[in-house]
Amino acid sequence: MTREQAWQLVQEKVKGAFLKNHLLASEAIMRALARHFGEDEELWGLAGLVHDIDWETTETEPKQHGLIAANWLSSAGFPAEVVEAVKVHNHMTGLVPRTLLEKTLWCAEELTGLIAASALVQPDKKLASVKPSSVKKKFKDKAFAAGVNREIILKCQEMIGLSLDELIDIELKAMQEIASNLGL
Ligand SMILES: [Fe+2]
Repeated sequence: MTREQAWQLVQEKVKGAFLKNHLLASEAIMRALARHFGEDEELWGLAGLVHDIDWETTETEPKQHGLIAANWLSSAGFPAEVVEAVKVHNHMTGLVPRTLLEKTLWCAEELTGLIAASALVQPDKKLASVKPSSVKKKFKDKAFAAGVNREIILKCQEMIGLSLDELIDIELKAMQEIASNLGL
């Protein structure tokens, strides 16, 4: 399974530009986190890139989110570690993330939404203008990007040993590196 093939599958299954950007951002942060942990960057990047591939399909049945994706990915020949990480990442299913990859995807991808929203309120709407401190401030302001589940993100501390500050640093940098692909 190559990155090219994975992106092809995303194009087939995902219509919305917003969701595609979330997947690209998730790929970037998962690669950066793999680097941080000395894990397989390609593998973790794949998991980030496809993790919400069934989001639009499961909009009316959110408990199926992740499960349908896992079926698609498994038929398409994705590595079992990626299939499992995608399957358990939906917080609503109650499935328990076990491996470092599964735990990281579970708690870390939620922050990409807050970082993207933090860029959009900059005068130039650019990620380059976002500072870690401003993401932290937005994190504490519950009314800002209210759909972003702060509790999940904070679980990264106990699950993968990363504080909020560390997580913001790693993810903001990773997203800034691909800012033009994200239109930010
Ligand atoms: Fe996601």
